[in-house]
Amino acid sequence: MTSNAHSTVILAAGKGTRMKSSLPKVLHEIAGRAMLGHVLANTRFGGDARTVLVVGPDMDEVAAYAHGVRQDLSVVVQFNQRGTGDAARTALPEITHEDGVVLVVFGDTPLVRTETLADMADTCRKSGNIVILGFEAADPTGYGRVVLEGGKVRRIVEHKDATEAERSIRLCFGGPMAVPAGHFGALLGNLTNDNAQREYYLTDLVALGHGAGLDCICVTCPEADVQGVNSRADLAAAEASLQRRMRQSAMAEGVTFLDPDTVYLSFDTKFGRDVTVGQSVVFGPGCEIADGVLIKAFSHLEGAKVSEGAEIGPFARIRPGSEIGRRARIGNFVETKKARIEDGAKINHLSYIGDARVGAGANIGAGTITCNYDGYNKFFTDIGAGAFVGSNSSLVAPVRIGDGAYLGSGSVVTKDVSADALAVARGRQMEKPGWAKAFRMKNEDIKKQSSGE
Ligand code: UD1
Ligand code: MG
Repeated sequence: MTSNAHSTVILAAGKGTRMKSSLPKVLHEIAGRAMLGHVLANTRFGGDARTVLVVGPDMDEVAAYAHGVRQDLSVVVQFNQRGTGDAARTALPEITHEDGVVLVVFGDTPLVRTETLADMADTCRKSGNIVILGFEAADPTGYGRVVLEGGKVRRIVEHKDATEAERSIRLCFGGPMAVPAGHFGALLGNLTNDNAQREYYLTDLVALGHGAGLDCICVTCPEADVQGVNSRADLAAAEASLQRRMRQSAMAEGVTFLDPDTVYLSFDTKFGRDVTVGQSVVFGPGCEIADGVLIKAFSHLEGAKVSEGAEIGPFARIRPGSEIGRRARIGNFVETKKARIEDGAKINHLSYIGDARVGAGANIGAGTITCNYDGYNKFFTDIGAGAFVGSNSSLVAPVRIGDGAYLGSGSVVTKDVSADALAVARGRQMEKPGWAKAFRMKNEDIKKQSSGE
């Protein structure tokens, strides 16, 4: 391993009983990704890193999720939840002294920044001391308090064990701790559960380290970065924090939000420059929005790639597998799914385009529907460049409309249409002169006779 190696231990064995859920706590999502996914991403930095995930028994779902994200991770099981220190101890067989630094993080604290963790690991490596992440809590209730003596961190006391005076301390422990790997096992071996909760506290490593001649350095961060999630209300609060953070960074990169607080992003939403996003727009996972795109109010996008200068919405639904070309237009009440809408194509009103290609510059009239599903299979609709699909047409897939072809409005198209042809697939219009007048007269007569006039 290289000199900047470290091991990360993620503690996720807690059952999260206050979530009242059949889903393990760390699999609850924030901004479209499981909390654990955020932690796995945030702890990915530096050179060679070993990651050990501590789960409880019956948490196969959590282990499977983590392996899906990172194949090289080891999973250990903590059979009885006897505290965060005990959880860290179960990871010991997976850690070696060569790892340099052991970084312990909590699976329920998903918003810690990578830079902060990298900085902690670095400080630990260079100083050979324990490094903890602290924050000034608006309301410190429930958190471990960081106790200073002579300006130096001396120990962390858990809320339940703290005296009145200690409870008035607002500097709290946020969860992440970096410990020199050479000391990690020995310090954990000295933990006792002589406290109010009868648990082995990770936080006791600070006092034990002091006894062994190690100082403790407290790095601090804003409270929003170390929000822990113990309940659904905490989950919503963490979501709100992350949304605020993502909006700020999108704006810093050149995105205009007409009303930022109403736009919801996913962890992986990517924007180019000079993108404008209207009010109440939602980006599900997997969206890439290129330079100069305009997304109007009340649109919902997920799994979509939108190219330069395209316009979407208002009220558009862009579903997974949609690729919207340069300067293409998708208007109100249009749904696209697995559809490649090529450069400059227009679908302006009330349409469903799924499993389809719409060629460059094609114009899709209001109310066009690709009939892509027969109840068993999905079929493809291919619309050529420059084609003109008249309003209220149904394209029964599989079907191909050639380049530059015209479709008469109201057509139900079941056969391929050649390039540059006109296809009309609807009942032919006929006219009976005077028919309506005669019909009315006849019926008025009948009405009069039956009412006895
Ligand atoms: C912990 C800290 C507290 C800190 C707070 C920050 C301890 C003793 N306390 O308290 O100082 O201010 O986080 O949010 O460390 N876990 C296990 N096995 C266990 C117990 C917990 O894996 O036996 C995991 C949980 O799944 C969770 C994490 O460790 O992801 C933290 O445990 P939790 O019970 O939430 O600790 P807090 O009471 O929040
Ligand atoms: Mg917690």
